[in-house]
Amino acid sequence: MNSRPPKHLNRQADAVAPNGQESYARHVNPEWAKLANLLQMNLHYTRCTGAELETAEGRTILDFLSGYCVHNTGHNHPYIVQQLIDELQAEGPAMLQSNIVESAGTLAEALCKRAGGKVSKAFFCSSGSEGIEAVIKFSRAFTKRTEIVYATGAFHGLTCGALSLMGDQFWREGFGPMLSGTTEVPFGDLAAIEKAIATRKVAAVVLEPIQGEAGIVVPPPDYLKGVERLCQSHGTLFVLDEVQTGMGRTGKFLAAHHYGVEPDMIVMAKALSGGLVPCAAVLMTDEICNSVYHSLRRAFIHTSTFSENTLAMRAALATLDVLANERLAERAQSIGLELRENLRRALASFEMVKEIRGEGLLCGIEFQAPHTLALRLPFEAFKAINPAMFGQMIVMRMFNDKNILTQICGNNFMVLKVAPPLIISERQIDYFIKSINDVVAMMHSSGTFWSDAIKLGRCAVST
Ligand SMILES: Cc1ncc(COP(=O)(O)O)c(C=O)c1O
Repeated sequence: MNSRPPKHLNRQADAVAPNGQESYARHVNPEWAKLANLLQMNLHYTRCTGAELETAEGRTILDFLSGYCVHNTGHNHPYIVQQLIDELQAEGPAMLQSNIVESAGTLAEALCKRAGGKVSKAFFCSSGSEGIEAVIKFSRAFTKRTEIVYATGAFHGLTCGALSLMGDQFWREGFGPMLSGTTEVPFGDLAAIEKAIATRKVAAVVLEPIQGEAGIVVPPPDYLKGVERLCQSHGTLFVLDEVQTGMGRTGKFLAAHHYGVEPDMIVMAKALSGGLVPCAAVLMTDEICNSVYHSLRRAFIHTSTFSENTLAMRAALATLDVLANERLAERAQSIGLELRENLRRALASFEMVKEIRGEGLLCGIEFQAPHTLALRLPFEAFKAINPAMFGQMIVMRMFNDKNILTQICGNNFMVLKVAPPLIISERQIDYFIKSINDVVAMMHSSGTFWSDAIKLGRCAVST
């Protein structure tokens, strides 16, 4: 494509609303705008490459969050960007909804091959939540049963079906009623799964192989294998949500590969398309696919407008290339192991550090209430103001003092998530370890940490 855009086309919307910050607060989400400012994290980013985020003020922030496991290949990976530019410049059919999208076929085959096991078909959509919605419908269609089992602490997305598989009242409040026939079981408890599915009314057990927002919870060694066996013997589908754990994040292409299991369905999203274009996939067996799309009349019985758009397909294919060429899963495995060992060594002496855990580059640092009275008093006072603010204070210190972006887990405010892009360098990892050590040391010794924290907590209450 050589033609330039016609001269009469210019950026009119920008002229009407020149201050995006104000417009956002007025027209999108005023409370998020307030919170981002309160946390002093609302910067204007100008350029993001690899694990580095450059700001208009001249700061360089190191990304140890990856947009909640989206940027596995690093920000704006040049190969993926070029593939997208090529796709756009080719002026091909972005989506016509009337022919076969060849790149969707290629991507489905590549994903099923890498996933291995029983899956041989893919359904594409645009978000993890949408993938979970498909899982609910498909497992009902296949089993002719209606109930679904999920785990305590799970995060599967915020659409109504996905939310029905998340027990935390915080997310549900005001949005009920949820889907009926969903049952929560403690993560890691095989007997509870057995009891729940013994009724033979359960269509699927849906689990994250390693729980992300619950606090980077790694399953007991034989748990997933046990769930798989129980599901097989009760005619229930075994579904893994690999939205955060997939695409090399935990040191293998899927976290399922650590545990030797072959799920009936697998949901992938987030890092699937290089962090640049929304894309999600549900991988499934032939039999499940056939139970949904079993006749010409039902060829479109479950679909979505942007599902197989060529930009998303190209982004995902390019991301798979980068994962393989740069051996990013293997990298996550070895660097992650070293990171956790070094973190354990650095933080061992601090009483508020409870545990460091994870797999590959999906790690969590769990904090706990201090025993020492001088620390216990401010800790409890602060927690009483707002339970999330203790973790948020660590996030703020890391961000403002050390220029490192992290976040606490959505369903466990005592766990700091450590999930950098898989291309992170050893030097950047060393800087992270030194920085978190400084912040945790400050938390254990300095009045400033707690007085600042209490000021912030009060401010949050009064805003
Ligand atoms: C494990 C898991 N599943 C599903 C989802 C929902 O994905 P999305 O936000 O793309 O709808 C998330 C989002 O964070 C997630 O972490």
